[in-house]
Amino acid sequence: MSTHLGAAPGQIAPYVLMPGDPYRARWIAETFLEDPVQYNDVRGMLGFTGTYRGVRVSAQGSGMGQPSMAIYAQELFQDFDVEAIVRVGTCGGLSETVSVRDVILGVSASTDSAMNVPRFGQVSFAPTADFTLARLAAEVAEERLLPVTAGGLFSSDQFYSPDTEITETLAGYGVLGVEMETAALYTLAAQFSRRALALCTVSDHLLTGEKTSSQERQETFEDMIVVALESIVRLEAVRPSR
Ligand code: HPA
Repeated sequence: MSTHLGAAPGQIAPYVLMPGDPYRARWIAETFLEDPVQYNDVRGMLGFTGTYRGVRVSAQGSGMGQPSMAIYAQELFQDFDVEAIVRVGTCGGLSETVSVRDVILGVSASTDSAMNVPRFGQVSFAPTADFTLARLAAEVAEERLLPVTAGGLFSSDQFYSPDTEITETLAGYGVLGVEMETAALYTLAAQFSRRALALCTVSDHLLTGEKTSSQERQETFEDMIVVALESIVRLEAVRPSR
């Protein structure tokens, strides 16, 4: 048992898909997992465990923003010995090289958050995806001809940011999308020597103003979940969980 996850030891799988929205966690469990069992409803942050092609997988909401993500990611790694977390979220497109409905495979996550200041002081730590998971996800997407682009994410503390210049600057340095959670996830995976990857569907575009309809979001989201789950199946095949 941990503070924010009301699960018993062993109820959470070694592999966890994390959408921001807890209802998305329920939808993932009901749509893709066999025999899903709900293990958490503390604060409405639903979590479920089932199996996907014979591999135990959980789907757990993270909530919005790095503080919320950090609470759940730390408890998953520290209290439930989770081996890998794949964030499955949305982001705003920053670069002309991505369009709405594309999926960004977040290789790194720059941030305006001060969350890492107590950890690293003056040093600007570079939160980075797990290379094995990223490689497997890129392979799966390529085989299925899905539009996945690997590149940097910007984990912002502000959804309604008054500052538009910073996103332009970051786009100029090849950052592809803005979201709010990945830097904390990658930092905690590094702290606990575990694996993490963020896959984010571009739901809206800050340069073009384009937005996805809810139907489009749903379809793209389904493709992205399959990439996440198939990557986990391959990870289990090459690096079985302990
Ligand atoms: N900003 C932050 N997070 C987001 C956005 C955005 O524009 N779109 C989807 N998640």
